Amino acid sequence: MTKLRFLTAGESHGPALTAIVEGFPAGVAIGTELINRDLRRRQGGYGRGGRMDIEQDTVAIEGGVLAAYSTGSPIALRIENRDWPNWRDRWVAGDLPRITVPRPGHADYAGMVKYGLNDARPVLERASARETAARVAVGAIAKQLLAAFKVEVIGYVRQIGDVEAAIPDITPKELWQRAEDSDVRCPDTDAASRMREAIDAARQSGDSLGGTFVIVAAGVPAGLGSYAQWDRRLDGRLSAAVMSIPAIKGVEIGEGFASAGLPGTKVHDELFTGDDGRVYRETNRAGGIEGGVSNGKPIVLHAAMKPIPTTLTPLSSVNMETAKPASTEYQRSDVCAAPAASVVGEAMVAWTLAEALVEKYGGDSLAEMKR
Ligand SMILES: Cc1cc2nc3c(=O)[nH]c(=O)nc-3n(C[C@H](O)[C@H](O)[C@H](O)COP(=O)(O)O)c2cc1C
Repeated sequence: MTKLRFLTAGESHGPALTAIVEGFPAGVAIGTELINRDLRRRQGGYGRGGRMDIEQDTVAIEGGVLAAYSTGSPIALRIENRDWPNWRDRWVAGDLPRITVPRPGHADYAGMVKYGLNDARPVLERASARETAARVAVGAIAKQLLAAFKVEVIGYVRQIGDVEAAIPDITPKELWQRAEDSDVRCPDTDAASRMREAIDAARQSGDSLGGTFVIVAAGVPAGLGSYAQWDRRLDGRLSAAVMSIPAIKGVEIGEGFASAGLPGTKVHDELFTGDDGRVYRETNRAGGIEGGVSNGKPIVLHAAMKPIPTTLTPLSSVNMETAKPASTEYQRSDVCAAPAASVVGEAMVAWTLAEALVEKYGGDSLAEMKR
């Protein structure tokens, strides 16, 4: 159905991650600066593990961009894994130790069963959230298209563990600035220091934490998506895109779950006309989407991330070779990655909106879309 699409390839400890973006309009200014900035933002955040000290992600654009503008041809992106030299010899020789004890909360068990494997390594190499670096690079390209239509996508952390932020009533741009200045990407400075303490405590007790983040897309024109068919609904498409991020287990748009417990008169955003005859609303509880169509208000989406499945404290599992009880073995890991996940959330929302814009306005060239 969609004209715009992307695929990624690559393993966590392989040579590189690759992404191909296809159907992207010609004439959009594409800078590696903005891609690298988002790659850096994904790598940061209090609570991340040792891997991020090794990687300093930068993108190479290997197709589809000429003299800093998209050409309409497939855009190829490559992000090298700096950890690769530490793995190359064993990887090529095929003598990496087999992993026969699936780690609960990871794709290990389901992946071994699905592909008939006696080793979880091929599963974890691809299921690893390292792949989200490629998505962030793709999202940064989508943001460059959205910028041409003055659409901005920002994300911030609202909760880590049981520490919940009080979100100040300021513009999305100001919220974002505060999140940018925070190493847990939280605009509430008091809550941010309690979040850091919670992460320290989890680290010390050999545990891990999840959290929630909010994505706001401002400047989205009314009319993206459609109620006419289930798979055209913008709310469904955004939710699927964000839910596809590893460890995201809940997505709500607008007031979401809270609205289920309220009467209709306290939920629906009433319409008024101003002196100039324009329609306006005083609330945005719907989060900018009604009937699967953007209604001109900012799109607001809230996502829940489960705690990181790798914990220093071993979890019970089974050795798949012997069918005997076994404990998980710890591997270098994040303690909490909600701040990083919020950057991936921005990318997936930006991507979905870019897709919907291309559908609505045509998509061979930026000039055509603008017309
Ligand atoms: C940005 C990001 C970083 C992550 N880092 C880790 C990590 O260091 N260790 C880990 O065990 N899981 C990490 N995860 C979560 C796992 O990738 C995820 O839980 C796992 O692949 C299983 O997928 P599922 O939770 O969607 O079922 C991370 C997720 C994201 C989005």
